[in-house]
Amino acid sequence: MVSSAFSINTGGMGERLKDCTAIITGGARGQGAAEARRFVEEGAFVVIADVLDSEGRTLAEELGHSATFHHLDVTDEENWSAIVSGLVDQGRSIDILVNNAGILLFDRLTRSSREDFERIMEVNCTGVFLGMQAVADEMKKQQSGSIVNISSVAGLQGVGFQFSYSVSKWAVRGMTKSAAHELARHNIRVNSVHPGLIETAMLDQFPENLQPRVESVVPMGRSAEAAEVAELVLWLASQESSYCTGSEFVVDGGLSVG
Ligand SMILES: NC(=O)c1ccc[n+]([C@@H]2O[C@H](COP(=O)([O-])OP(=O)(O)OC[C@H]3O[C@@H](n4cnc5c(N)ncnc54)[C@H](O)[C@@H]3O)[C@@H](O)[C@H]2O)c1
Repeated sequence: MVSSAFSINTGGMGERLKDCTAIITGGARGQGAAEARRFVEEGAFVVIADVLDSEGRTLAEELGHSATFHHLDVTDEENWSAIVSGLVDQGRSIDILVNNAGILLFDRLTRSSREDFERIMEVNCTGVFLGMQAVADEMKKQQSGSIVNISSVAGLQGVGFQFSYSVSKWAVRGMTKSAAHELARHNIRVNSVHPGLIETAMLDQFPENLQPRVESVVPMGRSAEAAEVAELVLWLASQESSYCTGSEFVVDGGLSVG
């Protein structure tokens, strides 16, 4: 696979998320961790929320006072309530939610089990629903908020060998639009991000026979670093995208152009 020979010069510390509190699900590693690092660089306080306690705590320690780790299984409503009430008790606003946690499965319609289908939907889809529901009341009280839901290029097109995953990511795209419609009058924006091939543990899950031939399937000829997705998520989380809601934002090196 051709990986990214790319380095981002973010310019270091900034104030694009000054005084903002962000919850990032699946924040312990991969894209979520890249977003946590970037958000902290721009002045945010970040709640790294994940089932990976050890990795999450290590990252929070690295980021110092600007981050904390909270155990969260996105499918667990009590976990969600604990995070939200904890932030409210600390007198913090909830300005940004990045619903980034996700799991991948390789299956086909005709060779998938109900259990596998429901597990993917539970994490990738119900988890996003519960997350948006958990923060919506606080964001309504504040009359502001930005929710970024991480879908995939699999939420823009059909993927035969990722049947359940693709269904779940289309659902994220649909939920994003419905939630954006409902919450816009409260000044809460909701957008979806559609990454292509990003160099994280998830990409390592591809079995040998399904390894994407990056040079031929991606017009830009390479996969991306998690940091490249983080730049887009940062922009959507910040006020720089103040008039964007209910939209799809693709970061895939051209993979989905056909
Ligand atoms: N890597 C890619 O090529 C790619 C492409 C398109 C979309 N995505 C999406 O990007 C998002 C981030 O994935 P990644 O690439 O960083 O992979 P990753 O596997 O490194 O990260 C996924 C994170 O989600 C967490 N997670 C899984 N189940 C959870 C649960 N029930 N509750 C809380 N956290 C949970 C994991 O512990 C992990 O930290 C996912 O939604 C994924 O579907 C990834």
